[in-house]
Order: sequence, then structure tokens, then C-alpha cells
Amino acid sequence: MSAFARALCLIVLWFTGLGSHFITSHAFKVPFRVNDVLPVLPHEISWPVLNNFHSAVDLLPYFVGSVTPNNVSIAWKGACFYGNEARLEFTESDRDETDLGGAVIHLTTSAAHSWTCMDLYVFATPYRITWDYYFSAREHTLRFDSWEEPAELEYVKQHGVSVFLMPSGMMGTLFSLIDVLPLFSNTAWGQKANIDFLKKHMGATFEKRPQPWRATIDPADVHSGDFLAVSKIRGRWGGFETLEKWVTGAFAGHTAVCLKDETGNLWIGESGHENEKGEEIIVVIPWEEWWELTLKDSSNPQVALLPLHPELRAKFNSSAAWAYAWSMSGKPYGYHNMIFSWIDTVADNYPPPLDANLVISVMSMWTRLQPSYAANMWNEALNKRLGTEGLDLHDILVETEKRGIAFDQLLTIPEQDEWVYSDGKSTTCVAFILSMYKEAGILGPISSSIQVTEFTIRDAYMLKIFEDNQTRLPSWCNNEDGQLPFCQILGEYRDGTPWL
Ligand SMILES: *[C@@H]1O[C@H](CO)[C@@H](O)[C@H](O)[C@H]1NC(C)=O
Ligand SMILES: *[C@@H]1O[C@H](CO)[C@@H](O)[C@H](O)[C@H]1NC(C)=O
Ligand SMILES: *[C@@H]1O[C@H](CO)[C@@H](O)[C@H](O)[C@H]1NC(C)=O
Repeated sequence: MSAFARALCLIVLWFTGLGSHFITSHAFKVPFRVNDVLPVLPHEISWPVLNNFHSAVDLLPYFVGSVTPNNVSIAWKGACFYGNEARLEFTESDRDETDLGGAVIHLTTSAAHSWTCMDLYVFATPYRITWDYYFSAREHTLRFDSWEEPAELEYVKQHGVSVFLMPSGMMGTLFSLIDVLPLFSNTAWGQKANIDFLKKHMGATFEKRPQPWRATIDPADVHSGDFLAVSKIRGRWGGFETLEKWVTGAFAGHTAVCLKDETGNLWIGESGHENEKGEEIIVVIPWEEWWELTLKDSSNPQVALLPLHPELRAKFNSSAAWAYAWSMSGKPYGYHNMIFSWIDTVADNYPPPLDANLVISVMSMWTRLQPSYAANMWNEALNKRLGTEGLDLHDILVETEKRGIAFDQLLTIPEQDEWVYSDGKSTTCVAFILSMYKEAGILGPISSSIQVTEFTIRDAYMLKIFEDNQTRLPSWCNNEDGQLPFCQILGEYRDGTPWL
């Protein structure tokens, strides 16, 4: 049967009643399985069906192999096509501004086991993720127009592009993620994708601000405990932050905190600062150095200063804050608990189409691409939640099922501030600041009952601890004749959203 005829069949089936009709129908004379039609079902229908037929482990993307550029092809058996082969070929760049070039993956499918089935694949490098689906037996091509950066080219030369066969019901989910992919591109187009995404999904406005886009800060007007909210809108960090903003409902994606020393010099404490080795760590650096790095950051950061409320500033125990900052300096960024601050309750916290199934899928793909990073990001934290040690993601899922807990329930077990990971206590950018606030005595008598690692950036800036009287903001804040209720010190756009 031709590809066209198969497509037509699927479309006809789609319009004639779906679901139960399929499962009970005996009219088909050809091999037929309910799994075959899952790809064309909408996500809301296909996931429950999948979940009923499979255990959580079966729903993981299946790692087929890496297609490397050394002129060898890989072969595997798919869910629909039993014969598959793929090879990778580097190509010339199609963009003028870069000479990195791109690549084409040639993928040949054969021997479909039924006429209704299709295979759905995800192709990933640590820099991009894309997908395609096949329901005809022939050679298909998948084109990477241009590598994002030299590091991606280098990665692909060494490790190739990873290919994952997806559980068939994932298609609806992937389709609804279609506007997520361009977010990670470090181009004007990528920046526009981020802005459009935030406008569409979060109602952000992104009006252009009048010049100057950069304030001339007088460090004398800045005090210990003042909060810096940073919003990156371009490149890999921009894309990552856009998704973080979306799942957490915050309009800022990163934060840092101001500290004054005894001689009146201004310093910045930051968790998630990239060191020379490319690792994200906690630092305390002079203001001038931080500002210079921020100004030349290619992610086009938008920065606002949120001074502490004067009453709290008076209570701020600076020596306790400094002691905490130095005790954390040099420690790694809190990958362990980052995602857990996103996920408080099963039902309310995932904006569609994100759900626990997708979270597991992404986790398992990352595990394959960057194993050490993945172990950092969630394996240890999930082990803590189970009270186990050293289980990998697969074993964690098996253990979870054995205990009769759903994976999404496991994710919602709250993080405890006193959990210590293999590389020390784990704090994200905002947990670092709130822990400092806790030490400095400004979260008051309730502070011992607050788990700061569960805080998102939005939770933090919604706290009623910042300056709420516009007339008391420093005179160098360009707040556009009172139009902005906060002090934006850098950025081309005004979010137009209440930060406070
Ligand atoms: C790659 O392999 C194919 C077939 O195995 C061969 O025809 C071709 O010449 C090879 N190309 C290179 C660049 O080695
Ligand atoms: C500030 O913190 C330090 C260290 O924790 C403590 O010794 C000191 O008594 C605190 N000062 C006040 C005024 O609370
Ligand atoms: C804001 O601060 C100014 C100057 O300190 C003061 O005169 C004014 O009463 C304050 N407004 C409010 C609403 O507190």
C-alpha cells in the first residue's frame, strides 16, 4: 500500500469514531494493534491508553544508537518498521555568517509489520532536539541546516547524533511542543521565538523601552540583601529560561544578590555563575566584574534591581549573610533540586503539554546524552525521595512501581533543605539567596518552617519584603517617569508585568 493510501486510511479512521471502535472492531483482515493508531490520537487520549497498557519503564524513549559521521551506518529494529538503517553526512553551511556547516541524516525504513503503524523518532544532541515520524518504507532525510556553535560540531564529530525511538503516543505531545524548539537558537530569530512564546503562553507584553537601556548605577545607593532579577531571552540559556518561566510562572529566569563589605564595596553573590571550565558554581564577585559580564552576555539579559524594604534592611544581619555566602562560595549550582521546585502538586503544576510522562522522557534522554550531568540533575534527588542510594533512572522507575507509587507522586515529594548531596548542599540561584535571607534573619520567626529549596523565583519576588514605594527608588533607575513600579537597570524590553 502506498504511503498516500496509508495516510488516507489513518485520516478516515480518525474521523470515524476512534478509540473503542478500533479496539472492538474485527473487520480488519490485516495485522492490527491498538498501539499502531496511538500516534494519530490526540495527546489527551493516547497517554491514558498508553498508561493502561504499559508499565512506566516501557514508556521510556528507546535509545537506538548514535549516528556518527565516520561513514558507518547503524541498523536496528523499530516498533513498526523492522528494518532500519541510518547514516550521517556533514554538509556545507547554508548561512553566510557561519562556516560551521550542518549535516544530513539518511534513514532507510523497510518491512513495516502492519499498514497502520508508524515509527516516531527523536534526534538529539545536547544542543538541540528534533523529531520526525515515518510511515512509508523508503529513504528519508533529516537535515540539520547549521550547527548552533563550534561545540556542537565538535560533539557530533565525536559522539554523533543520538536517535531515540519514542513510544507512539508521544506524537501529540511532540506536536504541541513545536514552538518550543526555536527557543534555543542564538539568533535574532531565536530571540523572537522566546518573546513570542512568552507573549502567547504567559501574556507578557515586551514593549520596547526608551533609551537608555542601561542605567548608570551608583553603588552607594545599593545595599546588602538587594535582589537582582535577571531575564535572559536569547540562545541556549534564553530558551531554558523561557521554559522555566513558563513552568514556574515567573517572569525572571535567574537571580543574584547584593552584598556590601565593611569598607562599603559592593559585591554580588550568585549561584549559577559559569567559571572558566564551563561549570555552573556559586560565586561572590565584585559588582564591577559582574556588571561587565552581564553587559557582554550574548543572551541579552534584562535586569531589575529589587531593593529590600527599608524596615528589613535595618534588620539585615550582614555578618551572618557574609558568613553564609563564603561558606557556599565555590560549591556547584543546585542542579539536584532545580526541577523539584517547579513541581509542587501533580495536577496543577504542569502547563499542558508538559506532564510527568514527558518529564521522564526528557530525563531519560538527557541521561543518555550527558550521563554525569543527569546523575547530578535528578538521580540523586530521586534516590533521596525513595530513601535509596545509587539507583539509576531505570531502577528508580522499577522501585517506584514495586512500591505502588506513581512517578508523578514521587516527583512531588518536597525537597528538604537539610539534604546533603555528594557534592554538598544544593542551592539554585534563588534558594541560595533565600537561605542567605534566612541566615540574615529577615524571614522572621517563620523561617525555620520554610523550605527555601522549594521556592521558585516567582515565589521569591512575590514575597512582601521589597521596596514598595516608588519614590524611594534610587534616582538613576530609569523607571520612565513612574511607568515602571520597579527599577530596571538593563534591557531593551519592559515586561509590562507586575514584578512586585
Ligand atoms: C562511504 O561508504 C560508501 C559505501 O559503503 C562508499 O561508497 C563511499 O565511497 C564511502 N565514502 C567515503 C567518504 O569514504
Ligand atoms: C548576626 O549574626 C551573627 C552570626 O550569626 C551573630 O553572632 C550576631 O549576634 C547577629 N547580630 C544580631 C544583631 O543579631
Ligand atoms: C513614599 O516615600 C516618600 C518619601 O520617603 C514619603 O513621603 C511617602 O509618604 C511614601 N508613600 C507611601 C505610600 O508610603
